[in-house]
Amino acid sequence: MTLRLQKFMGLLVFLLVLCLFDDAFALKCYDSEMQTANCEPIQLWCIKFINGSTITRGCANVNDYCYDEDEGCYPTREENGVTQKWCCCQKDMCNSVNSPMALFSVFFIVVSLWVYF
Ligand SMILES: *[C@@H]1O[C@H](CO)[C@@H](O)[C@H](O)[C@H]1NC(C)=O
Repeated sequence: MTLRLQKFMGLLVFLLVLCLFDDAFALKCYDSEMQTANCEPIQLWCIKFINGSTITRGCANVNDYCYDEDEGCYPTREENGVTQKWCCCQKDMCNSVNSPMALFSVFFIVVSLWVYF
């Protein structure tokens, strides 16, 4: 093989691996209709947002509501007389019911770092 072809093949393999990883690690969350939502790679969180009597679910990135580094629920707050509460977690389909948040796994930290750097 020529050097040029070797480089091209290397790039191809690299892209293929990138695609596989991307697919495998993109988070899946429940949306408000309890259907599966495929999150963007930048959306590292599943969120469940309780606004009064309305429950909203979906993907979130750190700039929206899940600004804390740890998964879990945020303090309840009042806005215009409506009680708001939300929880963020980082496992596939973890925003379903009121379950204790699972431990943040070392594995996910590694993956997060891999995605960002
Ligand atoms: C929460 O509910 C109130 C009243 O229904 C609404 O005005 C407000 O926009 C909602 N807030 C969010 C963040 O969804």
